[in-house]
Amino acid sequence: MELKDRLSITKPKFDAHELKLLKQCLDSGWTTQGPMVKQFENLFAVRHHAEHAVAVSSCTAALHLAMLALGLGPGDEVIVPAFTWVTSANCAEYVGARAVFADVNPRTFNLDVEAMKRAITSKTRAVVVVHLFGLSAEMDPILDLARQHHLFVIEDAACAIGTTYREKPVGTLGHLGCFSFHPRKVITTGEGGLVTTRSEALASKVQYLKNHGATGLPEKFRSNPPPYAMAAFDLLGYNLRMSDIQAAVGVAQMAKLDDLLSERKLFALRYSQLLQRLEEIAVPFVPEHCGHTFQSYVIRILKGGMKKRNEIMEQLEAHKIQTRPGTHAVHRLGYYVDKYHYPPGQFPVAAASEDTTITLPLFPGMTEEEQDYVVLKLKQALR
Ligand SMILES: Cc1ncc(COP(=O)(O)O)c(C=O)c1O
Repeated sequence: MELKDRLSITKPKFDAHELKLLKQCLDSGWTTQGPMVKQFENLFAVRHHAEHAVAVSSCTAALHLAMLALGLGPGDEVIVPAFTWVTSANCAEYVGARAVFADVNPRTFNLDVEAMKRAITSKTRAVVVVHLFGLSAEMDPILDLARQHHLFVIEDAACAIGTTYREKPVGTLGHLGCFSFHPRKVITTGEGGLVTTRSEALASKVQYLKNHGATGLPEKFRSNPPPYAMAAFDLLGYNLRMSDIQAAVGVAQMAKLDDLLSERKLFALRYSQLLQRLEEIAVPFVPEHCGHTFQSYVIRILKGGMKKRNEIMEQLEAHKIQTRPGTHAVHRLGYYVDKYHYPPGQFPVAAASEDTTITLPLFPGMTEEEQDYVVLKLKQALR
């Protein structure tokens, strides 16, 4: 078999439901700050057992707003895993805090609790715990350590929509959870994000800050607002809102969430069955108490380092199979190199993970034939 079209690493799944809700939204004339956003937030909150859910324009916006809501700023340090998407660290830097990296566990790619312990100083105020590729991080020891040191815990659950840690949905295990609806994620709204929290005070802060800092009508106008009443703006806010057009797609996607997750899991388990005997690679490791969305199915090349990894990716590309490295070792990116001058050899697990990982195509709607083809071409490339 040869592929007719290039097989991409991901593909969102839409159908008539999204179109119906989009039409309903456009027909209503409410394209922002309307009922679709409310409905999407409610669906998301219920699914994640969150008291509060605030939709925003991206997960980056969610993380930025989380930092602001917690009052983090100059002089503060925020611990971030060294192997993740760059925004987890950038958001600490946006508010003037310092992103302090900690290495990850080589089997799970998630924050290593011993490395987190070593990164704590008298200036540490918060930790961003990333559920990377959709695998829930080892939350209990992280939460214990954070409690001992009075640290805020922000969960970067960009890839982890609908997953659990010890049966509990991620996103409300820490103080704030941040989700992404970028098209590479489990569900998509084109671009989009959301903040979950158990705290009413934090939810209100995020709500105000995402909407220009508007803090609602002044007390004297609340019971019977006159036509000239205008909102107070007691905070310096931003426009980081999600539109109702995006939320309409999100509502339809939420109805599919469980099916999308099941399909992802089936394909992931099938990959692992087909690949696990190959001694040249490691398939994703999932601790028994951790949920995994398989937003990305990431393998590690165990022999031949980056050179072999790159050769394999080139060979797969030649057979029209798209792959990507897992993600970045963020401390090696230009901004962080220039600012913090990390010596070579820092955060070795993150560095090796960037150099030796491959994300394979996996998305709801792919076929077993396509998956078999990827496995065949991968095996040929390994030899
Ligand atoms: C772990 C992680 N955090 C944050 C983000 C940022 O999400 P967004 O593109 O919605 O800003 C991503 C996106 O790739 C991600 O993978």
